[in-house]
Amino acid sequence: MQRRKLIKVLGLSAFAVSSSGFTLLTTNGKTTTSCRTSQDMLGPFFKEGAPYRNDLRYEGNEEEIPLKVVGTLFSADCVTPLSNVTIDIWHCDHRKEYDMEEDSYRCRGKITTNQEGFYEFITFVPPPYGGRPKHIHYLIKDVEGYESLATQLYFKGDKRIKANNWIKFPWDEKRILDVYKNEENMSEVSLDIFLSPKSKR
Ligand SMILES: [Fe+2]
Repeated sequence: MQRRKLIKVLGLSAFAVSSSGFTLLTTNGKTTTSCRTSQDMLGPFFKEGAPYRNDLRYEGNEEEIPLKVVGTLFSADCVTPLSNVTIDIWHCDHRKEYDMEEDSYRCRGKITTNQEGFYEFITFVPPPYGGRPKHIHYLIKDVEGYESLATQLYFKGDKRIKANNWIKFPWDEKRILDVYKNEENMSEVSLDIFLSPKSKR
């Protein structure tokens, strides 16, 4: 198929393979990569000012399943790790509530990627609330050259996922994760994150 025809079929999208081999996708003037992590809703419960910490557990949530979350943050070329980047993480507490008032920032924290772009934190599997699947929120912003990313991590096998309007496309499914046992016999999930380059306006 001729390129022009292909573009017509795809609407306003065009594909190209970069010199490093990954696929660039241009939609309505925005360039992104095929590996990029898809956006999810920020939601109404984000709160600025969470402390840096990589353990979100607290007294009172001992009944929940402890969970380690690991992953690597990559640049738009899909292979270069991004070091020293701050990631905001938050989820509801064991009572299905978000801490909006207290200074304790319960179930909220900031973590930083290391020299290899790796991040990790310990928390517990959050309960579902309001018909939504179990999820953990992420926000990455103010990284020079990259779009901000608000996204969410989900758990494979959670039947509420089918009612989630934000899981529509194959690339969204990369955020639905298998829980496995790590070497410490702790439940663990792994979410690698790929940022999109900032669009030229
Ligand atoms: Fe939420």
